[in-house]
Amino acid sequence: MGDLGSITWPPEPITTERLVLRAPEARDRAAFIELLASPEVHTFLGGPRPREELEREMPAVPEPWPGSFVVELDGSMIGQILLRRAVEAHRPAAAGKASLGYLFLPRAWGSGYATEACAAALGWLADALPGEPVVLATQSANLGSMRLAAKLGFTEVERFEAWGAEQWLGRWSPVTPSG
Ligand SMILES: CC(C)(COP(=O)(O)OP(=O)(O)OC[C@H]1O[C@@H](n2cnc3c(N)ncnc32)[C@H](O)[C@@H]1OP(=O)(O)O)[C@@H](O)C(=O)NCCC(=O)NCCS
Repeated sequence: MGDLGSITWPPEPITTERLVLRAPEARDRAAFIELLASPEVHTFLGGPRPREELEREMPAVPEPWPGSFVVELDGSMIGQILLRRAVEAHRPAAAGKASLGYLFLPRAWGSGYATEACAAALGWLADALPGEPVVLATQSANLGSMRLAAKLGFTEVERFEAWGAEQWLGRWSPVTPSG
């Protein structure tokens, strides 16, 4: 995965009705470890990383690269949104495209936070890189993720087999003003 190219990073924090999206900071380290060590979060993502390894290797400021947004609720991190360029994509339809990923702590599921945060991140990208389409790959068995993709306006490009499971590739395009 590569970065998004000619964008200014970090942007001003993005505020939604309930959330703030901002660049990662040192105070997010424990929440990043919780997120990456969670078996529940990684059910469809190839399994979690060992907590001891994360405690040892996680840098003081986790994942500070362009396109890595921390999602904050009431001052605490509840998830991460990733916008990256799919430079080594598995599928030709995704190659070189901006790609969306999302991971939220289980205690924050079921409240619409992921939908609210991802919609704001896509809005930010549409301003930063006008006209840029975005792709999203997820296991089709990951029903929460499939529902989220549909709510955000992603439409199916194709399904394919990889990593021992059926994958779904979706595409989102910004609405361009008509006339
Ligand atoms: C995928 C994932 C982000 C979805 O989280 P989520 O909380 O289900 O997603 P949403 O923010 O869209 O919330 C939707 C749910 O909140 C409910 N909800 C409650 N209050 C709501 C509100 N005010 N507004 C909107 N939805 C609300 C909805 O009814 C919906 O419930 P349902 O799924 O039972 O129908 C989460 O399951 C996750 O982090 N999974 C692990 C990581 C992963 O697999 N990522 C995919 C790979 S990219």
